[in-house]
Formats: sequence, C-alpha cells, structure tokens
Amino acid sequence: MTITRIAGLREKLQGLGTDAILVTNAVNRRYISGFTGSSGVLLVSQKDSWLLTDFRYMTQAPQQAAGFTVVEHAQKWIETVKELAVSAGIKKMAFEQDTVVFSEYAAWKSSLGDAVELVPVSGVIEGLRMYKDESELAIMRDACKLADDTFQHMLSFIKPGLVEREVALEMEMFMRSRGATSSSFDTIVASGERSALPHGVASDRVIGNNEFVKLDFGAYYNGYCSDLTRTVVVGKPTDRHREIYEIVLEAQLATLAGIKPGMTGKEADAIARDIITRYGFGDKFGHGTGHGLGMEIHEAPRLSVSGTTVLEPGMTVTVEPGIYLPGFGGVRIEDDIVITATGNSLLTSSPKTLFILE
Ligand code: GLY
Ligand code: MN
Repeated sequence: MTITRIAGLREKLQGLGTDAILVTNAVNRRYISGFTGSSGVLLVSQKDSWLLTDFRYMTQAPQQAAGFTVVEHAQKWIETVKELAVSAGIKKMAFEQDTVVFSEYAAWKSSLGDAVELVPVSGVIEGLRMYKDESELAIMRDACKLADDTFQHMLSFIKPGLVEREVALEMEMFMRSRGATSSSFDTIVASGERSALPHGVASDRVIGNNEFVKLDFGAYYNGYCSDLTRTVVVGKPTDRHREIYEIVLEAQLATLAGIKPGMTGKEADAIARDIITRYGFGDKFGHGTGHGLGMEIHEAPRLSVSGTTVLEPGMTVTVEPGIYLPGFGGVRIEDDIVITATGNSLLTSSPKTLFILE
C-alpha cells in the first residue's frame, strides 16, 4: 500500500521541479508511510525514501513504514535532513508550506544555508488523498457504520430533561467502546433554539419538549473519519418544524440523486442551494453543501459556491444542507458518499424520516 503511495508521490515530484520533497504534515506522513507516531518527517526523492523520527519510535517506525529507511534523527531533525540531502545530491527540496509556521521555516533556512534550496508547495499529497482506494473505502464504510449504529442507539436514549453534554458523552462512549479511537470532531448536540447554531457543540442546556435536537458527529476509526448529521424532534413537532425539515430533506435527497463525476463542487452545491432558495430560505443556509472527508474531517474537495474542483470517482464527500432560523431552531441532514463512475454511492445509511422522540 505505502509502496504504491510512494510511487504516486514520486510521479507528483516530477512536476515540482525539485530533487525531493520534505513531508512535515503529520496526516500526509501517515498516508504516505503508514507511520502513526506523533513525531517524524519524510524525505522522499526519486531514489530514496527516508523516515526521520526519534528514539521513542525506533521499533515501531520500521514495523509500520514499509519502503522507508528509518533514521533516528539528531536533536534538531533538520540537521539530519541536511546531512541526508547533501549525501544524496539533493539541491532543491519541496516543503509543505501550509504546515510550517514562520519561526520554524526561518530555523530550517538557517540550518540548511546554501546547501539545500527550499521550494514551497501546496496540496501535493492532499491531491493524492482525494482519491480513496478500496482499502480506504473499506475503513470509511466501517467508520460510517459506527456512526449509523450510534444514531440508532441514540434514538432510544434521547429524551426531555437530558443535558446536551450527557447525550454527547453517550455518543462518544458508544463509538469508543466499538473501536473508534475518538470522535472525529467535537460532538454537536444542539437542542431547541441552539439547533439554529450550525456548529453548536454540546452545552449544559437541558433538552426540552417540542423542539429539535441536531446531532452532528462521527467516528475517527483506523485513521479515517465519518461525519453524520441527523435532526430529530423531542416531543411534538409544529408545522414550522415539519416545514423546514421537509425542505432540507428535499434538498439533500435531490443533491444525492444529482451528484455525479464531471460536476464541479459549485454545481453540486447549487443543487441543494437552489431548492432551499426557491423556498425562501437561501439566506438561512450560509455554509457549503459538503466537504471532502477522509483522514481529516475537512479536506478537498469542497462542495460550495467556490468549489472549482471537478468531482471524480473515488472522491468521498459529505452532503449536508441545512436551514437555521435564529430564535427558533435549525435542521441539517448529512450523509457521506463516494463518487462512482456513474454517480455516487452512500457510505452512511441512517434513515431520514423525521424521528419524533417522546
Ligand atoms: N460535521 C462537522 C462539519 O462538517 O463541520
Ligand atoms: Mn460535515
């Protein structure tokens, strides 16, 4: 697996005009090498692939990083990078400019001096990560199943009188006890008027009666994220609750039915946005329709008004339109999908009828 990924990176390297690439982004490091440690960098040229890490990982790293020569680095790892680069004739080295802070960059530059030129690059490995292979999709299906199972469990747990944080804790325990490393982001449990907060993480609010509860959560499982949103009613829904739920559901189902390869993120976003706008709630849907999902909760491509990436088979994205009415409440419905040769296929499968919990 990592051997194929090193080959993919080397292909990209040809277009960068550098002799090597330094990988300091921890997610990209794990993707390319398989190494899960908390500290380490990769140096990859057309000929060599090194993983530099420290004493703590000298047993683990060689076990995980097939295809890499593992090197225990000096106190300052950039000094070891310099030594390796000079010995291998690497004169120009790409680095991931979106990961480094300025002070670090300044320190690298001063260590490398004139020996190695640093060339800033963006999105190189992220571009590879957009296309999930079968092994990744298998893990993501498991992560999504865990989210689906959690939602099913919560249908019989949620009731008036519970504090949002208690609900979030139950969700997180459920996922952790079934193999998740953690939740894939801070669990959102937003009830009543708080459900109008698109990102209302669980608070001390007590869930009341006759109100929405929006649950947005996911499992971080085997290095991959799932991301699921469902909105339920506790007590009795009013016509207003039903109206906005139905509009969001119509927008979400139409988007799922319409997304196919060849479409841009903007075109996919427009499917949901046009429907919500037609019903007069366009200004109450202020976020993108979806985002790429994988080793990170938010990654490329974006389904939004500025989404220029063309969707292609193997990309995994969320579809999550919403309507948020301050002072009343809000609805979001979110699934995870993979783009296929002809359209898309669902990774999550929780039901979307309006659940009324009493
Ligand atoms: N579900 C969290 C997010 O998409 O931002
Ligand atoms: Mn999401």
